[in-house]
Amino acid sequence: MTHSIPSLTGFTEHHGEWFAEGVSLSALANQYGTPLYVYSKHAICTAYRAYDVACIRANGSRRARIHYAVKANSNLAVLDELKQLGAGFDLVSGGELARALHVGADPKSMVFAGVGKSSDEIKFALSVGVKCINVESIPELQRINSIAKSLGLRAPVSLRVNPDVDAQTHPYISTGLKDNKFGIAYFEVLKTYREAALLPHIDIVGIDCHIGSQITSTSPYLDALDKVLDLIDQLKRDGIVIHHLDLGGGLGIDYGSDAPPDITEFTNTLLNRVDERGFGHLDVILEPGRSLVGNAGVLLTQVEYLKTGADKNFCIVNAAMNDLMRPALYDAYHAIVPIKSGIGKAITYDVVGPVCESGDWLGKDRALAVQEGDVLAILSAGAYGFVMASNYNTRGRPAEVMVDGDQAYLVRERESVNSLFANERTIGPS
Ligand code: LLP
Repeated sequence: MTHSIPSLTGFTEHHGEWFAEGVSLSALANQYGTPLYVYSKHAICTAYRAYDVACIRANGSRRARIHYAVKANSNLAVLDELKQLGAGFDLVSGGELARALHVGADPKSMVFAGVGKSSDEIKFALSVGVKCINVESIPELQRINSIAKSLGLRAPVSLRVNPDVDAQTHPYISTGLKDNKFGIAYFEVLKTYREAALLPHIDIVGIDCHIGSQITSTSPYLDALDKVLDLIDQLKRDGIVIHHLDLGGGLGIDYGSDAPPDITEFTNTLLNRVDERGFGHLDVILEPGRSLVGNAGVLLTQVEYLKTGADKNFCIVNAAMNDLMRPALYDAYHAIVPIKSGIGKAITYDVVGPVCESGDWLGKDRALAVQEGDVLAILSAGAYGFVMASNYNTRGRPAEVMVDGDQAYLVRERESVNSLFANERTIGPS
């Protein structure tokens, strides 16, 4: 497959030098060190607005709301910007709920999903008053009912439908097939809603569906949407009223060879189908993550060594699979560029990190004109980058910077090595 550099908002190249908005990436690498995640506020705002214009009808009324999927990038600065733009949040843990509350988001703008919510997490979500819990199994529904009873309230819920639709994406990030652990099997949904309607501490408010991530075609969404709308019709006949329809997230981005639909066009296509089928009265929720932040971030890394192997050349950099897990985990492609174009001839390298695993690679067979000490930018790293980082090999996680125009803000400090074992104890002499 041939790859090119994805077209980016917020990151530009001028005369061989890369910039995040008005700030040169070299200046950021010098000031904050590497590995370093750099985000463009402008890129996040632009992607959000592309969704938002499609969410508002010509007469000014709102037909859909964006609930940002916090898992994609949960830095407080990112959450705060999106909150200021008017986004709600899609959460999958008590930790993400705490983050959203920390930036002052309104619990009524939050939906809470996940197959394995603990009792504590359910209690936390219900006591702060989230808009809705997206329920993924019958035992979970029963647990929510009894926790709501103990709190003396009724829990607002949607059932997450597994529509058995193939999202045509990497198997690890496909969630709407009947073999996947997610959601309630399509054939059991009506029965489960009927049971839910009889539970005294459950308040049915919506219906939910999410079929996967990095989806680059609209047709699986329309298939899933049609199946969910059919269910809403049948529920109405049973006297069960649905107020909101949550279509999940999953719209893909261009990593270099992908051609996802344009955000506004994609959103209009889905919302028009909702209107055409006579469901325009429903509040629609979309839960994008990657398409809001994925191309709004890069990971800067410095070349440590250039090594000639028997069959391959290796460009050994100071970022690794612990900093950006996607290549190792999904065989994912991220474009890699020198932040200042180098002199000399490009050589083909595997770009690899210092971690002791052969799976520790960031890019394979990349033509680069680089020297030791040069800094590379790994593009499209704003989503599922830092959030999936680990401390493997006792490596502190990178710092994060957000750029807004000519200003750069350190939004997370580099993790110190001492902090990595601060919570550990030896057991002492025997
Ligand atoms: N809603 C639900 C219920 C989800 O499970 C997800 C993502 C989203 C929304 C947001 O999906 P997005 O718009 O970001 O595609 N680590 C993987 C992606 C995992 C996605 C998990 N669920 C990766 O790096 O590709």
